[in-house]
Amino acid sequence: MSLHNLTRFPRLEFIGAPTPLEYLPRFSDYLGREIYIKRDDTTPMAMGGNKLRKLEFLAADALREGADVLVTAGAIQSNHVRQTAAVAAKLGLKCVALLENPIGTQAENYLTNGNRLMLDLFDVEIEMCDALHSPDQQLEEVAERLEAQGFRPYVIPVGGSNALGALGYVESALEIAQQCEGAVNVSSVVVASGSAGTHAGLAVGLEQLMPDVDLIGVTVSRSIAQQLPKVEALQQAVAQSLSVSANNPITLWDDYFAPGYGKPNEEGLEAIKLLARLEGILLDPVYTGKAMAGLIDGVAQKRFKDEGPIIFIHTGGAPALFAYHPHV
Ligand SMILES: Cc1ncc(COP(=O)(O)O)c(C=O)c1O
Repeated sequence: MSLHNLTRFPRLEFIGAPTPLEYLPRFSDYLGREIYIKRDDTTPMAMGGNKLRKLEFLAADALREGADVLVTAGAIQSNHVRQTAAVAAKLGLKCVALLENPIGTQAENYLTNGNRLMLDLFDVEIEMCDALHSPDQQLEEVAERLEAQGFRPYVIPVGGSNALGALGYVESALEIAQQCEGAVNVSSVVVASGSAGTHAGLAVGLEQLMPDVDLIGVTVSRSIAQQLPKVEALQQAVAQSLSVSANNPITLWDDYFAPGYGKPNEEGLEAIKLLARLEGILLDPVYTGKAMAGLIDGVAQKRFKDEGPIIFIHTGGAPALFAYHPHV
């Protein structure tokens, strides 16, 4: 167990206490398997979600650099952009967001409700683009323009997924290890794998702390062939920044995201209804509904390594329920 280097990174305390790890009794009865849920949807700013963990590190770095603007990018309904905007507001920084409409919809709720509604409340300056085809370069162009206007921008990549942001999920692994100690003999952990920082941070943390646990990333936007190099590169970068090794193979399931990123599917919508009705917990149509559909199908198809308890990482996203109503 050697994650002591984590404390060397400057960090702003937005979260303050570990998020709950809860047992789901009615859902477990339904599935015939012990299921726990890590409630990262309850992080305490702007309706919660996984990005606040990354932003604790990224925003600290921005302040250290003397930035006065946070610049980031995502879909119109990005949870990441919403949480970045809230952090900018709290810190008294300007926020500029480069947004795309990845599903090409004109549905009113998608364009104006859910996460997008909150961007206006947080006073975000929005730039629309046709597509985030080369997001790092597109963000750099926005930053250069802001610099020319006299601002000091700090660029946060899509999803906050660089080696620094992913440290937030090493921290989440630390919490999980402490919460399980002597109480839950975890077999597998399931998480949505998108821009990959959440998955990569957990991979590094769990390998150090709970090396026998299987970590499964359910992809929400890419095939395994496209997603694997992204997760592996970040896994290695995070491990290097903490001076630990990362040898565990990355596991991905890509059977649950069709027809594509941001486009709901029947299994994901069923998973949302199930968790709402059995446990009073809200998932979302873009990330956690699809990841949970993977967990449910994984149990049915015996895809997990054994019959032991499973932890589902609830990464948030419920504000998108309002944007997707009645379904894009
Ligand atoms: C609700 C939710 N879950 C999961 C993810 C995926 O996390 P990551 O981008 O770190 O892979 C995101 C990212 O936007 C998200 O908003």
